[in-house]
Amino acid sequence: MTGAKQISTEQETREQALVDRVLRSFANCESARLKQLMESLVRHLHQFLRDVRLTEEEWKKGIEFLTEVGHLTHDKRQEFILLSDTLGASMQTVSINNEAYGNATEATVFGPFFVEGTPEVHAGGDISFGATGQPCWVEGTVTDTDGKPVAGARIEVWEADEDGFYDVQYDDGRTAARAHLFTDGEGNYSFWGVTPTPYPIPHDGPVGKMLEATGRSPMRASHLHFMVSAPACRTLVTHIFVRGDDLLESDAVFGVKDSLVKDFVEQPAGTPTPNGRVIEGRWARTRFDIVLAPE
Ligand code: BEZ
Ligand code: FE
Repeated sequence: MTGAKQISTEQETREQALVDRVLRSFANCESARLKQLMESLVRHLHQFLRDVRLTEEEWKKGIEFLTEVGHLTHDKRQEFILLSDTLGASMQTVSINNEAYGNATEATVFGPFFVEGTPEVHAGGDISFGATGQPCWVEGTVTDTDGKPVAGARIEVWEADEDGFYDVQYDDGRTAARAHLFTDGEGNYSFWGVTPTPYPIPHDGPVGKMLEATGRSPMRASHLHFMVSAPACRTLVTHIFVRGDDLLESDAVFGVKDSLVKDFVEQPAGTPTPNGRVIEGRWARTRFDIVLAPE
């Protein structure tokens, strides 16, 4: 008996015989890993079909949904990754491949908005390049798991503007709210960005329809992306989130981890800034100390 619905022993035997036949079809697969992946996929897929007693109408709808996802996957849009993200499959893969290592900083989902070849900023530089938003001072250190500073670590940072858009979502070719920088000899880094604000993942396609049909929100909790690399260290892809954000519990891609939630402390207008930058209004500051696991 596989699901809630009672089925006869004959039916059960027929269904299992098909699973076994499909599994046997991989007998000559030369790659042991591919064989393992295909066999497990088939087992789980058939288990799902049998558990829910999938109707032919539902099967057809599923195929239509995946076809739509495929049609919205091209060089400018990756609806399949979005589907993986919203089903938690991306985060599960991140977790599997970034097993906790001592006090190393936790990883989270990469997202679709990273761009290679960003401008470099120096310590205390401004990555916003005109992106709208409240100025936010970000500082911290990069160390290894023994607490030794990592000098020269490369830090890529990227974020949305206060309207919830990344530069690549505008059609004017701008580069804004993204840059890379390096830690100094003591492993310190600092830069100005903008205080992260919430934004929806692209939800005008089939994944958006799935979210709506299942009563889910497309909103991501406010965050700032980091990718940190250094020789002999495991490259870290992560974000920091804003403590107090209402969306921390319902992030559309399940990316939030408690250890990545940071205080973004608002500073009253007129508060002197850490590097003498003159700011008319309010600004915020946060600290993110990064610990890299060994490779
Ligand atoms: C993002 O953080 O930018 C993102 C992550 C997953 C899906 C869509 C957007
Ligand atoms: Fe993002």
